[in-house]
Amino acid sequence: MGVSARGQRRILVTSALPYSNGPIHLGHLLENIQTDIWVRFQRLVGNQCIYVCAEDAHGTATMLKAEEEGMTPEEWGEAMRASHASDFARFHIAHDNFYSTHSEENRYYSELIFQRLQEKGHVFTEEVEQLYDPEEGLFLADRYVRGGCPRCGAEDQPGDNCDECGATYDATALSEPRSVLSGAAPILRASMHYFVDLAKSEDFLKSWTRSGTVQPEVANKLAEWLNEGLKPWDVSRDAPYFGFEVPGDEGKYFYVWVDAPIGYMASFKDYCSRSGVDFDAFWRPDSECEVHHFIGKDIINFHALFWPAVLSVADFRTPTRVHTHGYITVGGVKMSKSRGTFINASTYLDHLDPEYLRYYFATKLSPNTDDIDINFDDFVQRVNSDLVGKIVNIASRCAGFLHRHFDSTLAPTLHDAKLWEDVSGARERLADLYDTGTVSRAVREITALADLANRYIDGHAPWRLIKEADRAGDVQDICSMGINLFRVIALYLKPILPAFAERAEAFLGVPPMTWEDAAKPLVDHRIGRFRPLIQRMERKAVNRMVEASKEHEPAPVENAPDMDSISIEDFSKVDLRVARIVEAQPVDGADRLLKLTLDVGDHRREVFSGIKEAYDPAALVGRHAIVVANLAPRKMRFGTSEGMVLAAGPGGSQIFLVTPDEGAAPGMEVR
Ligand code: 2FM
Ligand code: ZN
Repeated sequence: MGVSARGQRRILVTSALPYSNGPIHLGHLLENIQTDIWVRFQRLVGNQCIYVCAEDAHGTATMLKAEEEGMTPEEWGEAMRASHASDFARFHIAHDNFYSTHSEENRYYSELIFQRLQEKGHVFTEEVEQLYDPEEGLFLADRYVRGGCPRCGAEDQPGDNCDECGATYDATALSEPRSVLSGAAPILRASMHYFVDLAKSEDFLKSWTRSGTVQPEVANKLAEWLNEGLKPWDVSRDAPYFGFEVPGDEGKYFYVWVDAPIGYMASFKDYCSRSGVDFDAFWRPDSECEVHHFIGKDIINFHALFWPAVLSVADFRTPTRVHTHGYITVGGVKMSKSRGTFINASTYLDHLDPEYLRYYFATKLSPNTDDIDINFDDFVQRVNSDLVGKIVNIASRCAGFLHRHFDSTLAPTLHDAKLWEDVSGARERLADLYDTGTVSRAVREITALADLANRYIDGHAPWRLIKEADRAGDVQDICSMGINLFRVIALYLKPILPAFAERAEAFLGVPPMTWEDAAKPLVDHRIGRFRPLIQRMERKAVNRMVEASKEHEPAPVENAPDMDSISIEDFSKVDLRVARIVEAQPVDGADRLLKLTLDVGDHRREVFSGIKEAYDPAALVGRHAIVVANLAPRKMRFGTSEGMVLAAGPGGSQIFLVTPDEGAAPGMEVR
């Protein structure tokens, strides 16, 4: 293993790009820690290993989130990029570059790849009908629509599958659909879209997915999809959208999932331009360099079907391997905000050392796609008993004697050659376990080596020998042996615990260790002062972290009236006022909205109202209406709506303004 045996490998590694619409949480950390351990191991054995990631900045969700925050999507994306990069850095994730998909390099490669797909006849256009929110003025992705399940009739189901009966369907099949964004009833609207004809890549994919590029269970899942036949992939979205416009087609954008994986190349390209690494050497079709992607099992289709298909048609190399991991569960169930188990990176860092989590994840990592369960008691126990109780203990038991009696100097020879061979000789096997992602087994073997070391120290009891005049000299040999075993164990853990390894190096008085150092003992060498290398973990700190992560659901009200009725107090909270419509105007890009300027007695305000299909704006001017005056202002694509005008009816042209009788004046309270 490593450079000497096989020559230096040149490897590019990626973790999935986090979206700009939320913070880094345990799920991202699992993946980036898993990748980072693999990357650090490759570097330790002397391979060239470049690790890039980036912010997945595009898409509707980022656009809406930015709007909510009163920022441009570019500003928001950059703020999130900086915060995500800093979270990862604090967990010692050694990205060489953490870029953004909203970059010129990414625009360049997205356009180039799309153009090549077009030239080779893999792209066609077709008109599709999709749900459109007339109030927000945008097409609705499935997750922004809810309605009745077309199979079982359950109400308020998501736009793609039913939580009640499990049916999967098109959002257009929902009964009484509603836009999650505005509450409006979506309408069907046709638009031209670009499609990648994936069926043309099926033969290629059937062999690619069976060529050692994915884990066996992933290959089986992909085979199911390939046998069913691949549907054309819709790769465009309509304005308004935050992304790259399709060249020559104003108002059409590349779907976020087109330029996200290309973002791996773009981040690498940016790194190349700063480091002098040759981009083409990694990406030309016959490249001997390796490209490894680490992902979660929810995005296998994008990485192991669409991405290799697109790359091969566009004359780029395809990934060497896609490493897929399972989901995180806590106590056997999904992470939950109300239980406090949906833990953000920054909350974790307020309470605990990042290396505790790196170690705990390492005890769970394997090359398969099973879910990974976290148990907080087990977490505390593993860290304390393995790291503090077994591993650091070796050093702390030996260092004191060497400092006090032997001028901190290690003996010139090794006291137990056989034991040294057992520990040093484990390096090949451990290297293999790291390289194949079998990290949990590596950890088990390393802690077993620590048990051997502790047993050795127990057996020789240096604390007893030091009191026996004729044996005191042996203590240096025994403690030097212990320190040598500790050194190799700290080295074996270096991919998992880089900061701990750095402190160990300072204590040992050695330069940064490499994997081959496990072959050479440290003799006749002066070590540094021993300082605690890791603190015990406190269960209470975990409790505080969980508490800080809890998003409390509103407490249920005692003797609450049934849900269909509200109390008179509730009703009196609604401030209804008479208003006079002083202006009514259509809104560009919104089929159903009118912008109304209302005189509410002592001031004027603007309200957007979905009544355009029922009223001629000019005919509304001068009319009275009833407005909900204390409704919190709602930011919409076209401006802020400062209230709501009451109207009756199902919608469309069947909508009727609620109007007070003659004599009512603007500003009057309605009760
Ligand atoms: O699923 C996600 O979180 C996506 N943002 C991952 C993108 S990975 C890649 F293709 F860029
Ligand atoms: Zn259903």
